[in-house]
Amino acid sequence: MLNIVVCVSGGGTNLQAIIDGVQNGTIQNTNIAGVISNNAGAYALERARNAGIQAYCVSPKDFASRQDFNDAFLKKLEELNPDLIVLAGFLVILPERMIQVYRDRIINIHPSLIPSFCGTGYYGLKVHEAALERGVKLTGATVHYVDEGTDTGRIIAQKAVEVKEGDTPEILQRRVMEQAEWIILPEAINEIAAAYQK
Ligand code: GAR
Repeated sequence: MLNIVVCVSGGGTNLQAIIDGVQNGTIQNTNIAGVISNNAGAYALERARNAGIQAYCVSPKDFASRQDFNDAFLKKLEELNPDLIVLAGFLVILPERMIQVYRDRIINIHPSLIPSFCGTGYYGLKVHEAALERGVKLTGATVHYVDEGTDTGRIIAQKAVEVKEGDTPEILQRRVMEQAEWIILPEAINEIAAAYQK
């Protein structure tokens, strides 16, 4: 079984797609060991608890320094002993040590077709605002491994989504989630789990 920890910051619709995938068998050979949020108010925490999954908040606000937060966050991860860490809308700059310790075992979902609209400052709705501003006709989502850069790691899966006349950032965000993110993230986890022997 692939033991995964899902890191979240907000609404948690991608987390929900993972929970549903594990429950309905789209994602096999996978156990969600826990969910960690940096934000105590994240609805994602409630989604986890509703599904009977251990949910934790490790917030920078509760620590005197970034270093103390990083240490606490890494300690929580270590306790949960993940084979794979899934960043599902996790809007925190990762401690460098985390990338070293879990190299090739961290994946992220990004709401564009990388290398478009990615890197520093491109997250959440901002990505869709930028896509609309540029006038692209196709956008989408990408699942990729996480390395030291921002959205620079090896790409695992991508899916294109049409931009339509009259789209607002919110409407486009929803379409990208429905038609791409909630599909390719569970699929990527399932593929990693299928290749995993333990
Ligand atoms: C998702 O659209 C995800 O792709 C994006 O944040 C949203 C989280 O929504 N992530 C990034 O922008 C990372 N750079 P959710 O909490 O409902 O899953």
